[in-house]
Amino acid sequence: MAFPPRFLDEIRARVSLAGVISKHLKLTRKGREYTGLCPFHNEKTPSFTVNEAKGFYHCFGCGAHGSIFDFEININNLSFLEAVEKLASEAGLEMPESTPEQIARTKEQATLYDVTEKACLFFEKQLRLPVGRSAMDYLKKRGLDEKTISHFRLGYAPAGNALRTELLRENIEQERMASAGLISIRDDGRTPYDYFRNRIIFPITDRKNRVIAFGGRVMGDGQPKYLNSPETPVFSKGHVLYGLSQARKSAFEKQEIIVTEGYMDVIALNSAGYENCVAPLGTALTESQMQELWRISPEPILCFDGDNAGRRAALRAADRALPILKPGISFRFAILPHGSDPDDFIHTEGSAAFGDLLRAAAPLSDVVWKKLLSGPKVDTPERRDALEKGINDAVSDSGDSITKQYYRRDLRDRLWQMFSSKRRNTQTTRNKKYWNKEDSVSSVVPAIFPRKDEGKKLLACIICCPEVSGNWLEDYARLRFDNPVFDKIAEALINELVDNPDHSFQTLYNAIHTAGHNKALDKLKTHIEIIEQKNLSLDDANSELEALVTGLQETALSKEINEISKAMETEKDTEAFEGMWKHLQILREERIKMREKHEEGI
Ligand code: UTP
Ligand code: MN
Repeated sequence: MAFPPRFLDEIRARVSLAGVISKHLKLTRKGREYTGLCPFHNEKTPSFTVNEAKGFYHCFGCGAHGSIFDFEININNLSFLEAVEKLASEAGLEMPESTPEQIARTKEQATLYDVTEKACLFFEKQLRLPVGRSAMDYLKKRGLDEKTISHFRLGYAPAGNALRTELLRENIEQERMASAGLISIRDDGRTPYDYFRNRIIFPITDRKNRVIAFGGRVMGDGQPKYLNSPETPVFSKGHVLYGLSQARKSAFEKQEIIVTEGYMDVIALNSAGYENCVAPLGTALTESQMQELWRISPEPILCFDGDNAGRRAALRAADRALPILKPGISFRFAILPHGSDPDDFIHTEGSAAFGDLLRAAAPLSDVVWKKLLSGPKVDTPERRDALEKGINDAVSDSGDSITKQYYRRDLRDRLWQMFSSKRRNTQTTRNKKYWNKEDSVSSVVPAIFPRKDEGKKLLACIICCPEVSGNWLEDYARLRFDNPVFDKIAEALINELVDNPDHSFQTLYNAIHTAGHNKALDKLKTHIEIIEQKNLSLDDANSELEALVTGLQETALSKEINEISKAMETEKDTEAFEGMWKHLQILREERIKMREKHEEGI
């Protein structure tokens, strides 16, 4: 059961964390915290701390860390639900009830799962009877073995009204069959008829692996090739991904999920060892499906058919994804040879070749860039202007300001590189080295490299000043740290600042903890303590962040400007020189803007 966040907040507000914890160990007050002997590991000197104001405990010895709920769960071995119930009763709060509509809906759904499951069993059985002989032959001819057929619970729907007859025998009312989308009841009172007839059946399951709908394929060339269940109380096409319940485990383990277009692609890839595959159900990827994919992997790989329809589908997915992108999530695009789909490809080229294809998958910005380039191919200043406008239009759809900035910069860099590519051929060796370095930088987010301590100070300050640290989000997104783990920490912090409007010291701290960077977190501890001791007002905290961010940016920009100016001194090619000059101007403008912005005190 999902609790309204306010309910959990109410519990936090009413129940004292130190009070709950002190039932299990002796706590001593030390400044703003309590300390004691950690209940989660053996120790002689206290390294367990409780911060009542921030609502969490933390052990510097073993890393145990969490909220009041976590404490109950871990100390008493409770489920989350049990912990909430226990604390709610201590708080004198009633557990929230479901609405009557929710209860009615759940009841109706429950009766339908039973019907769809029975239908699935029936179809599976038919496939193995003489009546399903040609269906079984068809599947075998397509390269599926018994194991794969059972794993995906493939079946056969015989001609006529076989399913209806069977379900009636099992005392299932026609209304329920119709609600489950298995039969169509006719207006004129004639006998209702089976929805799937003489088709191979692909059961569609939900997150809990319950059968909720079916896809049915004709054997041969009939139309429509695939028929899908209609929308029902348990099946909403745009919210389901085919194969997810079979793919989930492997996808989580690999942190990678592959999206194909069709049922047979998912199944063929699965039997070739790629178990982490899913497919939408004959429609474009919906936002809900994208969110579901991102819950599993930050960069799902879209592997659509290598025909025009597949390419259009990829473009459509890119367009649809842009407005909802956030830092750290995106898509990659695996491009199949013309006329091939993943099912064909794996059979003709083999599993290893498919692996190569996945590794070569292009980032989303490539797809956006290619789309921009699809106009007339003359490299003129006019075209450059048109592209520049196109870039602005493309990124204006992006809803997240950091992402917008990222794509604008990425696309501008590509534009700049394209129009200065001639230059590279005429460079001296020394310059070549320089430009190669430049390329590698501009292929990612233009980076700013803070020095070690400056970086740590900034991260600590972001955590300690949750009320104002969101003000400088766009600036953090451009930072790159010398230690990759700090990059990860920054990413976790940015995600938390963006995702959770109620972020606090605790949630920010937790975000790092959850991301598994406890060691690095310890390195920030001294800086966190220093900032905590300053007891900054909101205004002061904001100024502190601003100072850190500005300092870092100015240093980095000036460094870049110097490097370019120096390179320009020895550049002989006019066009290249102009390209550099333009770049220089952009950076200078940026520096001026930055100073202005900070002078205005925004
Ligand atoms: P495709 O036409 O690419 O089929 O449709 P496919 O996956 O390659 O199937 P095979 O290999 O010929 O058996 C891709 C997906 O679009 C949906 C289905 O989900 C299908 O898997 N689709 C296609 C339909 O819903 N209805 C159709 O008539 C055709
Ligand atoms: Mn196919």
